[in-house]
Amino acid sequence: MKEIIRLDNIKRNFIVGEETVHALRGVSFTINEGEFVTIVGTSGSGKSTLLNILGCLDTPTSGEYYLDGVSVRTMGKNARATLRNRKIGFVFQNYNLLPKTTAIENVELPLMYNPAYNAAQRKEKAIQSLVAVGLGDRLLHKSNQMSGGQMQRVAIARALVNDPAVILADEATGNLDTRTSFEILVLFQKLHAEGKTIIFVTHNPEIPQYTSRNITLRDGHITADVLNPHILSAAEALAKLPVNED
Ligand SMILES: Nc1ncnc2c1ncn2[C@@H]1O[C@H](COP(=O)(O)OP(=O)(O)OP(=O)(O)O)[C@@H](O)[C@H]1O
Ligand SMILES: [Mg+2]
Repeated sequence: MKEIIRLDNIKRNFIVGEETVHALRGVSFTINEGEFVTIVGTSGSGKSTLLNILGCLDTPTSGEYYLDGVSVRTMGKNARATLRNRKIGFVFQNYNLLPKTTAIENVELPLMYNPAYNAAQRKEKAIQSLVAVGLGDRLLHKSNQMSGGQMQRVAIARALVNDPAVILADEATGNLDTRTSFEILVLFQKLHAEGKTIIFVTHNPEIPQYTSRNITLRDGHITADVLNPHILSAAEALAKLPVNED
């Protein structure tokens, strides 16, 4: 099985005035291709700090991080930015779409930094990606003309468009109602079934039931790292939700 991520004793300290905050106190794990991993933990446990390091947005105080076989620690800033662009797709709680910009243009964005694609190919790939998330009928809608769930689908299409090694999601369903959250979870499960590697950070203790592995953080440490032998179907859960009659 191919190893996509390896963390070796990652520590991240923040200096605030006279104090040192130990946000991560020695985190180690490996993640293989095709895993759907949730990272849960109470507020302040270090989830976002960890995700920022995994996403090459931040560097650890100490420890080693290998992404798809490449040592991130030894890279310069520009090389890291290129690695991030090619290897990682991000999905955020607040979607982070460009305002008043069409779905296609939002999804094309990561390809702008990739000289392998010309304008026509960028558009073609963006359309494919939007069709894959069920938005083939909203290609020219602008961000302000879509629902929260549709905006999150655009964000997922954008995360997929470069065919990244891993998709990182930080509270991707945090702003959505129950039904829409399950719809997004159905989409993540479809991507997982297609072999994508996904890391999903969440406060929601129910979400790990729908993923293949769950890592629990507490006070900067991993306190549990377990495989899920009985992955629930988000599509079934969605079908059982009471229909909203309003
Ligand atoms: N830039 C920073 N400067 C100083 N301290 C920080 C910084 N970022 C995070 N911390 C501290 O590190 C710890 C972990 O924060 P982090 O944001 O990773 O938590 P979290 O698990 O994502 O919490 P939440 O669920 O509330 O989003 C907290 O104690 C926080 O105050
Ligand atoms: Mg956080």
